[in-house]
Amino acid sequence: MEPFASRRRALLERLVRERAVAFFRSAPELLRNADTEHDYRQDSDLYYLTGLDEPDSALILSGIHPEHRSVLFVRPRDPEREIWVGARVGVDDAPKRFGVDVAYSVAELGAKLPEHLQNARRLIARLGREPSQDRELLGALETTRGRSRTGTTWPTEIVDPVAVVHEMRLVKDDVEIETTRAAARISAEGHLRAMREAAPGKREFELEAALSFVFRSRGAARHAFQPIVASGPNATVLHYVRNDRTLLDGDLVLVDAGCELDYYAADISRTFPANGRFSPAQRRIYEIVLAAQLAAIEATRPGTTVDAIHQRVCEVIADGLLDCGLLTGARAEILEKQLYKRFFPHRTSHWLGMDVHDVGRYYVEPHVNRPLAPGMILTIEPGLYIPTTGDLAREEFRGIGVRIEDDVLVTPAGNEVLTGGVPKSIDDVEAACRG
Ligand code: GLY
Ligand code: MN
Ligand code: MN
Repeated sequence: MEPFASRRRALLERLVRERAVAFFRSAPELLRNADTEHDYRQDSDLYYLTGLDEPDSALILSGIHPEHRSVLFVRPRDPEREIWVGARVGVDDAPKRFGVDVAYSVAELGAKLPEHLQNARRLIARLGREPSQDRELLGALETTRGRSRTGTTWPTEIVDPVAVVHEMRLVKDDVEIETTRAAARISAEGHLRAMREAAPGKREFELEAALSFVFRSRGAARHAFQPIVASGPNATVLHYVRNDRTLLDGDLVLVDAGCELDYYAADISRTFPANGRFSPAQRRIYEIVLAAQLAAIEATRPGTTVDAIHQRVCEVIADGLLDCGLLTGARAEILEKQLYKRFFPHRTSHWLGMDVHDVGRYYVEPHVNRPLAPGMILTIEPGLYIPTTGDLAREEFRGIGVRIEDDVLVTPAGNEVLTGGVPKSIDDVEAACRG
């Protein structure tokens, strides 16, 4: 529980200074169909500050309350319900279990929240995600306003968590880095297993099953996002998730998958030949993407920016596309007009953390890209996707899709690739496919 407590302490110091209150609500439970629910996954901010994974819960952190600085709302014990869905922490045990000052039943949230908002200058809370939660919060604010003739005030500023909690989440602490390393190790093992599993005649979902088997049997709760197992032309569809095609001799297979371990995501892409040997055309495209990815990793260090890394990738990609005739003309114009986008339409990096596309601002001011700092984790994932149809490319290149993605921790000296456990040089990939 200590990492959670120390994060609350850090946040509370700021809340005290700003006479502010922060409010965090659990993720909603979602029905899948009829009375069957989706797998429950706690809201990342609430988990980051408490370690509580129960639905229908909330946290108030108060910089102004004389004694109740941290207030948890949980579902009350209910022996009848608990027979069906398992034990709840309950109101009585919550303070000790989670190290908060006080706990209430979530049924009391409607009454307690306005009390806590009273006399705060600022409210830090997320709006615009879940209408019922917006109504709950704005209703509490309205109640507090309604008491203004009794000598109290109410928060006149609502601050998005991105400016506060997400700044904290963007720079990972030691526990988070260690957990991400472990998630990356398990995900790498899953990818290796999928590579070995691949062969002409297998179905994409058999490779997905290999990933899932490794993730779950190593203790990861779930995939961090819907896994992509895209063979042949499916590899040119960026978010292909059907995963049901049969692998053919001569196909490339693009796998983009990562597990979520203790609420931390890994996100790896590898592309390999179904039959264990790259064709000459596949090899050329692969080598461009790999050169771009290695150049980007080389450029990742404190002080640089995600935009600068992306620019480096675009240069290497443009050179490669010129070299193999997929683009013609002047390099400067290709870069200026971003003509490579017809084959490389996405960006190189996103933050990685509790959410696979993790929180944190990429631009702190409009068009001012933030410098990287030690403790940030980002993906490096260039790709090339040659359309199957049309006349953008010579026949031999059509339908080839390649993405290579690693998770990279920014360190004081430069960076550490957390996902180095999966091969990516052509020789190593071919060897891994052979098992
Ligand atoms: N798998 C999602 C991504 O690579 O961003
Ligand atoms: Mn990614
Ligand atoms: Mn990915």
